[in-house]
Amino acid sequence: MSNPATPPRPADCVIVIFGASGDLTKRKLLPALYHLWEGGMTPKNFAILGVARSKYDDASFRERMFDFDPAQYPNAEKWSAFQKHIHYEPCDSTRVEDWPGLTHRINALADQHGIKSQNVLFYLSMAPQFFEPIINNIGESGLVVDGKRVVPVKKDDPTWQRIVVEKPFGKDPASAHALNQTLSKTFFESSIYRIDHYLGKELVQNMLVLRFANTIFEPLWKRDYIDHVQITASETVGVEGRGSYYDSPAGGAMRDMVQSHLLQVLSIVAMEPPVSMNAEDIRTEKIKVFKALRVPRDEDVPKIAVRGQYGAGAINGEGVTGYRDEDGVGPQSQRDTYAAMEFHVDTWRWGGVPFYLRSGKSMAAKKTEIVIYFKPTPHYLFREQARNQKPNQIVIGIHPNEGIRMRFEGKEPGIGMKMNEVVMDFDYVKQWQVDPPDGYATLLLDCMRGDQTLFKHRDEIESSWNAVQPVLDHWEQNPQDDLPNYAAGTWGPPAADLMMQREGRYWRND
Ligand code: BG6
Repeated sequence: MSNPATPPRPADCVIVIFGASGDLTKRKLLPALYHLWEGGMTPKNFAILGVARSKYDDASFRERMFDFDPAQYPNAEKWSAFQKHIHYEPCDSTRVEDWPGLTHRINALADQHGIKSQNVLFYLSMAPQFFEPIINNIGESGLVVDGKRVVPVKKDDPTWQRIVVEKPFGKDPASAHALNQTLSKTFFESSIYRIDHYLGKELVQNMLVLRFANTIFEPLWKRDYIDHVQITASETVGVEGRGSYYDSPAGGAMRDMVQSHLLQVLSIVAMEPPVSMNAEDIRTEKIKVFKALRVPRDEDVPKIAVRGQYGAGAINGEGVTGYRDEDGVGPQSQRDTYAAMEFHVDTWRWGGVPFYLRSGKSMAAKKTEIVIYFKPTPHYLFREQARNQKPNQIVIGIHPNEGIRMRFEGKEPGIGMKMNEVVMDFDYVKQWQVDPPDGYATLLLDCMRGDQTLFKHRDEIESSWNAVQPVLDHWEQNPQDDLPNYAAGTWGPPAADLMMQREGRYWRND
């Protein structure tokens, strides 16, 4: 995390990426590690070992990674120095028989790169059905000496082994719990890094600063002044070739985005001020929010949740086929490519304040933002104005348009009292003259440094599943015959607008 201002360089380690031939390694993990390396933020000695079943060797794997997008690595000379840290081991890490070879390779790489400790960062980046066998095999391998050790073997030996687990973390409360149990057999909670790349986003972290480093916001941050909160993650992309996963019982917008990323964002908006900025204190407050999430009753689901699925349409002038025509998707699929849900955080601070979360594929615009809507003034003094006074809003643009904007009423120039909405704008890029860094670099650095602030605790995961499961069950048991119910390139199904309008509220789509 960004606290302290200049984090110390992490200790030497081997980084083992399972599922390394997949997209995430190419698109996110290696570019993030490269970025850290270029900035002098990787350990002095380190090795990256890609593990997967595909038949690469070091040279062909490096070539494949570089091939992907040379724009990620514009400086060929630097790439050639960086790639010396990258290695590859073809094996099936779910098979016990393949582990002696893999363990040997990890130890050999430590020697080769002058890594004196037994520090290993395991990164699970593959389909979730492989998580449990691999975690068990890590446990059996004898490589984990720290994760389950109460006191260090040698007093000054800071050896660690940690594990990073990508989403999806389960597909319901039972499977999430089972995965947590499996992890806890080999690793202590303090060695488990459940990653959520939304927590690595600059503007999500900025929420902590906005709320807890300023005087002017926090006094208003409660039910007395806030009418409701909207959190939106709309995407213009469809399922991007992941149709068969997305259409499976583990997929859909509620699981893929709302239960994971958006509830994490909600927890940062809703948490109480922590006692300090250390990881444990922040997580303690986040966990309380998750525990306070209202679990809806089945009969409430139609009022508080909307499922959508896109049909054919157009985005930015280009024709888009409907979800049911994507590869791997069933012709009668009921899967949600859009989900909206009203959440409640049942605490003293938030009593009666709805949090509306929505996310969808193939929508009108890519937009991830938080909007805090304030209540109207207690007494309305501008009755003769033709225009209705708009509620004050704080808009936190997470991506694109990263920044924080306050929208309030101002007087238009000239004679008379004509009002209009005005905006006070902190634009991240203009202010800092840099593009926000990719969240993965921050998160990987945090794992290597042992900072869990931006990672999910097991209680957060299990409580977040509990809050959405009644909706998923209801949808499963009540097929909808109006799907697809929104055209690609629009703002989602009309039912989601109606859900808000019934309460006299509107989604912010501009
Ligand atoms: C991933 C989801 O976790 O987040 C994808 O699995 C989604 O379906 C992506 O497209 C969105 O991330 P971002 O950073 O582009 O908002």
